[in-house]
Amino acid sequence: MKDLRSKINDIAKRRGIFWNSYEIYGGVAGFYDYGPVGANLKKNLLDLWLEEFVYRDGLMLIDSPVIGPEIVYRASGHVDKFADFMVRCKSCGHAFRVDELIGEFVEIPDALSPEEMNRVIREKNIRCPDCGGELTDVEEFHLMFSTRIGLDKVGFLRPETAQGIFVNFPLLYRINREKLPMGVAQIGRAYRNEISPRQGVLRQREFNMAEIELFVDPEERFDDSRIEDVELPLLKMDGEFIRLSAREAFEKGIVNAYMAYYMARIMRFLEKIGIDTSRVRFRQHHREELAHYSKDTWDCEIELSRGWVEVIGIAYRGAYDLEHHMQYSGADMRAFRKFKEEKIVKRRKIVPRMEILGPMYKGKAKSVAEVLEGMEAPEEKVELKVEMNGSTYTIPEDAYDIVEEERKVSGERFIPHVVEPSFGIDRLIYAILEHTYYEREDSGYKVLRIPPRIAAVKAGVFPLMNRDGMDTRAREILDILRKNGINAYYDDSGSIGRRYARADEIGVPFCITVDYQTLKDGTVTVRERDSTEQKRVPVEKLPDTLRNLIEGRISFGELDAHVR
Ligand code: GLY
Repeated sequence: MKDLRSKINDIAKRRGIFWNSYEIYGGVAGFYDYGPVGANLKKNLLDLWLEEFVYRDGLMLIDSPVIGPEIVYRASGHVDKFADFMVRCKSCGHAFRVDELIGEFVEIPDALSPEEMNRVIREKNIRCPDCGGELTDVEEFHLMFSTRIGLDKVGFLRPETAQGIFVNFPLLYRINREKLPMGVAQIGRAYRNEISPRQGVLRQREFNMAEIELFVDPEERFDDSRIEDVELPLLKMDGEFIRLSAREAFEKGIVNAYMAYYMARIMRFLEKIGIDTSRVRFRQHHREELAHYSKDTWDCEIELSRGWVEVIGIAYRGAYDLEHHMQYSGADMRAFRKFKEEKIVKRRKIVPRMEILGPMYKGKAKSVAEVLEGMEAPEEKVELKVEMNGSTYTIPEDAYDIVEEERKVSGERFIPHVVEPSFGIDRLIYAILEHTYYEREDSGYKVLRIPPRIAAVKAGVFPLMNRDGMDTRAREILDILRKNGINAYYDDSGSIGRRYARADEIGVPFCITVDYQTLKDGTVTVRERDSTEQKRVPVEKLPDTLRNLIEGRISFGELDAHVR
């Protein structure tokens, strides 16, 4: 399968999909550029993602900074917990991720403690993959890139786009008119200082994510009629693999309703972008493998030439993030839950006695009393302390009363829970390339069967020959397509066969040829990439026809009826 990988990487570099960055300086591992084809493929993929996951469900899209102050990532737990385990070679000094080294001996390497990892390395006599040298003991390696904000403030490059959403929860909740469920999406780059990335575009230090944080009331039932009837391939934590419908998975309690909903939507999305869904599975994380913020995570894995690769994660983050940001910032990160009926609640309340507090604290007495009123009443009367503006005020037992009052309350405040589908865009793009790649049986020519909707370039326009006005007409047609918003290119070099082959290699779905008949009757041939069939279409109907084909409103087989 290495063969497929090198073929894809070869096309990617030669034809402008992606390549290792900073090549003229020897390249830097873990950084990739998207070329002219790849950048358009990425854009089209993200447009479809927005349509499928954001606009269709009425979610909010935001765009927050890449750099965050230290406090944000202390609160999120990343400063303390976001690390991988590594070893170095005592001879050549190269560093390696432990999970990759021990992966073939241990089913879930992330579930092991450092001591257990050391034991596996020693027992299996694992040596340096580069020079065979002895390896050091396992050590932790922190994955966030740090920087400075201004002169001396520590900042971090975000390891996920999610925190930019969490820190904005109070504002977004208000913008959403205080309604849950509330979904917020963000697309952008994230950064992880991977120890020693050796898996090409699959493990990058700067990568593209598309994330959704769905804030929900854990006591409210999800409208499960929204779960689509899609079969899910599920690999449970206990090792059992089952295929069953998203609804059944929810009804049997294997996944919660939100997970079932997103898993079904993800399967449909993957199908639309050209992934072979028979090589997709959702794998549940083992408890020890869960990220520090997660209560339950299912990775959507796609089978590639390297084996099963995590491409999308759906994590149930519970109240973890909002709770921590509330603690660290002091901001109220709660939502309001209205009761079905008002409730009468009894409350024990402190009532300050001003005749005692007044003479004691004079000008400050009123403020002290206000703070005192807001404090929780003790079980029994005891001396209390009021902290205010850095000072402590002692409140003797006789300076307040405790009274019981009844109040009507219409609801309560609570910290919402979060369901997070998180898409690794670069991995998705690579998976699309592997899954859509094939070689034509007759010629061996390489083809990327990328669905027209996301294909980087939609059409090639070719004059059959560079003479008799065919070239001029072809350029006019190119111009018409471009003015109609269709990303097309012109190619007049080499035989038509070579031009088709060049188009196929980057997944151009339609090729338009201008021939002698075009000059006579104003029709061109439209050649469809996968069937290689050709049909004639009048030039005036070409933009509309192509758009319908690209959007999937008509199939190539239906084209004759469409242009008649
Ligand atoms: N936000 C999901 C992740 O960091 O993987």
